[in-house]
Amino acid sequence: MMKAPHTVLLGMLLLIACGGSDAAEAGIVDDASPKGQQLFKMHCELCHGSDGKLGFNGAKDLAASTITRAEMIAQVTNGKGKMMPYKNVLTAKEIEAVVDYTRTLGKTK
Ligand code: HEC
Repeated sequence: MMKAPHTVLLGMLLLIACGGSDAAEAGIVDDASPKGQQLFKMHCELCHGSDGKLGFNGAKDLAASTITRAEMIAQVTNGKGKMMPYKNVLTAKEIEAVVDYTRTLGKTK
C-alpha cells in the first residue's frame, strides 16, 4: 500500500513525458520535406512508379527526364497527353514540392 502513490506519480510522469515527445515529433514530421515524396506516392506512382521509371500507359521515364523545373511545373499543372492536369488537385506549393521530389529521382543512380 505504501508504494501506491509513487507508482501513480511515476505513471503520470511517464504519460506526460511520452505525450509531450509524441506531439513534438508529429510537429516536426508535418513541417519537414518528405511531403513531396508523399504526394508523389499518392498521385504519380500509379503511372510513373516509385522510381519514376514505370512508364505505365505511355508515361515518361522521370528519372531520364531532361526538361527544366519550370517545364515540369507547367506540365504537372496543366497536364499533357494522357497525363491529367493537377491544378485542381494540388496547390501550387504542392506541385512545386512534388516536382522537386521528382527531380531527385534521376540523380540517385
Ligand atoms: C495517368 C497516368 C499519369 C499520372 C497519374 C501522372 N503522370 Fe506524369 N506523365 C504521364 C504521361 C502519359 C506522360 C507523357 C505525356 C506526353 O508527353 O505526352 C507524363 C509525363 C510527365 C512528365 C514529363 C517528363 C518529360 O521529360 O517530358 C513529368 C515531369 C511528369 N509526368 C510528372 C508527373 C507528376 C509529378 C505526377 C504526379 C503529380 C504525374 N506525372 C502523374 C502519365 C501520368
